[in-house]
Order: sequence, then C-alpha cells, then structure tokens
Amino acid sequence: MKVLVVGSGGREHALCWAIAASPLCDQLYCAPGNAGISNEATCVDIPANDMGNLLDFCLSEKIDFVVVGPEDPLCAGLVDQLAEAGIKAFGPSAAAAQLEGSKRFTKELCEDAAIPTARFRSFTNADDAIAYCKAHPLPLVVKADGLAAGKGVTIAETQEQAVAAIQDVFAGRYGVAELVIEEFLVGEEASFFALVDGENILPLASAQDHKRVGDGDTGPNTGGMGAYSPAPIMTDTMTDRVMKEIIEPTVAVLKARGTPYRGVLYAGLMIADAGPKLIEYNVRFGDPECQVLMMRLKSDIVPVLMASCDGMLNHVDLQWHDKTALTVVMATDGYPGAYDKGSEIRGLDALRGMEDVQVFHAGTKGDGDRVLANGGRVLNITALGQTAAAAQARAYEAVAKVDWPQGFYRKDIGWRAV
Ligand code: AMP
Ligand code: GLY
Repeated sequence: MKVLVVGSGGREHALCWAIAASPLCDQLYCAPGNAGISNEATCVDIPANDMGNLLDFCLSEKIDFVVVGPEDPLCAGLVDQLAEAGIKAFGPSAAAAQLEGSKRFTKELCEDAAIPTARFRSFTNADDAIAYCKAHPLPLVVKADGLAAGKGVTIAETQEQAVAAIQDVFAGRYGVAELVIEEFLVGEEASFFALVDGENILPLASAQDHKRVGDGDTGPNTGGMGAYSPAPIMTDTMTDRVMKEIIEPTVAVLKARGTPYRGVLYAGLMIADAGPKLIEYNVRFGDPECQVLMMRLKSDIVPVLMASCDGMLNHVDLQWHDKTALTVVMATDGYPGAYDKGSEIRGLDALRGMEDVQVFHAGTKGDGDRVLANGGRVLNITALGQTAAAAQARAYEAVAKVDWPQGFYRKDIGWRAV
C-alpha cells in the first residue's frame, strides 16, 4: 500500500514510525513532514491545510490510505473530500469533528445524552456574557468557541479577569465570535483515548500528558511538555465508567444523527470523587500522548487504523508492550510565548541506536546535514522502561546527550507515575 500521513509534528513522526514498520506499507509519504519524519517517509511539501493540493497528490500518486494527524484539516473536511474521491482516510468527517471544532456543539451533545460535564452557557455578545459572570460564583471558565490550538481558555478567578477574557474573544483574538462560560471543575485531570468505527469502540492504552510549561505543573498551559503510558489514574474501574457514562453515549448519539464518528476520540476528563466529567473532546491523537502510545503498541497499526474506517474494530485485538513509555518534550526558549526559529540542534547522532529510545521530531527543519529548530515544541525524546522510573531515567539520559543551548525541558515528566 501507499500511505500518506498528513501533519508535521511529533505525533505525525510517531505515526510515520509505526506505519513504516508495517509489512502492509510499501511506500510512505508525509505532508509536509519535518527533518525527523524524512527518515521514515518521503516528505511532500504540501501544508496540512492545503486540501486541493493534498487531494491532487493522492489522486496522482494513487495513495491507498491517508492518516490525518491534526484537527484543522479534519474540521475542514479533508476526510470527507478524500472519501468523495474514493480514497480511504483515517479520521472523522467534518460533521463529527465538530466535537473538537465547536465547544457549543459538544456541550449541547452532552445535554442531549446526559453526559456528565461542567454546567455551561454559550454567548454571541459580550454584554450578556459579562452579565452572566456577575450573576455566577467564581472561578468561571471562559472559552473561545473554535479551534484555538490549546489557547483560548481562561480560568477567571476575578470579575476583571472574566471581563478581560470575554472582551478578548469578542475583539477577535481567536478568530471566532462566540464563547462558552463554564462552571469550574475540581479534581484531577486525565485523558482517555479510544478508536471508534462509527459504532464499535476500542479503548487504547491509557496515557497522560503534562500541560503546564514548568516543573511541578506550574506556569502557563502548553500543547503538552511530556507524556507517559500507562497512566495510573485511569484504573479499570474508571475506564469502565468513562466508557459507559461518556464515550458510549457520545458515539451512539452521533450514529443516531447520521454523522457517525470514525477515528480516534480523545476525551479530556476531570476525575472527582463523584466520578468522571468531560472537559473537552479532541478528534485526533494527543500530541505528545501519541508518541508514548506508538512506543508501547505491539500490533501492526495499519490494519487497526483501517478497521476504524471500515467498521471492523470489533475484530481487532490490540497488543501492548507491558512496559512504561515516557516522552520528554524539548522546546525552544520562550515557548509557549514568543520564540526564535532556526537554532541548531547537535548531538542527535549520539541517541541513534540507544536501546529503547526513540527521538520523534516535533518542529525541526533539515538544512543539509544540520537539524534546525522550527517551532515551539521541537523534539520528543521517548523511552521505554520496565517501570515508570526506569523509563523516566532512560529518557533523561537521552535528553542529556542533546546539545541545544536554545532549548529547555521539564525535569519531572511522569512524576505522578513514578
Ligand atoms: P480545554 O481546551 O477545554 O481542554 O481547556 C484547557 C484546560 O483548561 C484544561 O486542560 C483544564 O486544565 C482547564 N479547564 C478547562 N475547562 C475547565 C473547567 N470547566 N474546570 C476546570 N478546568 C478547566
Ligand atoms: N497533549 C494535548 C493535546 O494533544 O491536545
């Protein structure tokens, strides 16, 4: 088969690494890819949101199967367009991808299906939103209603913060003119991943990321500074509850509406004494959670992803390495704020061939033999170990070999599991 992966981050590098190992894959392409991905796949210089050129490429190269990594092309309907052209693609339709694309869509679906989530109201003008905040106890959570790349969420402790966040949204900071205001949930955050084929649901191994930029889970939110799998917080009992109370009703409602969900469904959860509540849905693999899942996956991933497209997940039995995988994100100084691009990363050769270590590139660019930083999150140094402590030690041993003065990383990834 000829397979195309769409995207350019660490998630897509991990997917390419896993797909390239499949005996079913003869030729692997990635659009647009990055310096690391070019070791697994032929990188094609087409941006992930350039639907027209992606479609042309798939038709002219006779691509058999497309795996879409990021949410933007999913929400824009890439999978629908490919399907119309007769090309099988992994991921939800635009209609089902609204689970991530529209917070109001998801909140209303939760109401319809009695799925536990924070109480909410949605607003299309600032005055009403501000009046609502004045009438409700703080903290409140203000969320721009659209894809905001992990930004666009404010936990307002004071009225001033709430008003500022509301005005920010309606000033167009996130390119949307709608927001939701939610009750603040207390508890411990967890993530849940499952493959869905429209009807059948196949839970994946558990994985957890660290969203805050600083050690001890402090500082601003990021896309994720590290991750590990398994995640002890997702016990079997909790997994059963999440499946029954959240995932199954979601999949059932979307099927009943004639917009079945296919692809990977990623639930952000708040776990409290009373049980799990849904914070948000994502319609793609987590990044960097995907990297640790791919490290632990023993099964060939290609037939599994295809089964999600074909309604055959009830025939799939996933095998996982009985080890812990842990990834440390190396980011450019300044991230998640402003940062420079183009600094050189040295020392990566020393990591090649290290047992149980994989380097996934998240934001790099090749320049001859040199590897340059080309984003906020740049490298995912990923390791397997018999225990969380062993995986952590191994990952940091590898991180120490990377010579990149302009980069930084958290020193405590996996602390809850260790
Ligand atoms: P979201 O983009 O909706 O996942 O929000 C980003 C982060 O904001 C989450 O990972 C939580 O840490 C926090 N958050 C969002 N909604 C709530 C809520 N209702 N209560 C408490 N924390 C929240
Ligand atoms: N690691 C969080 C995300 O992928 O949204």
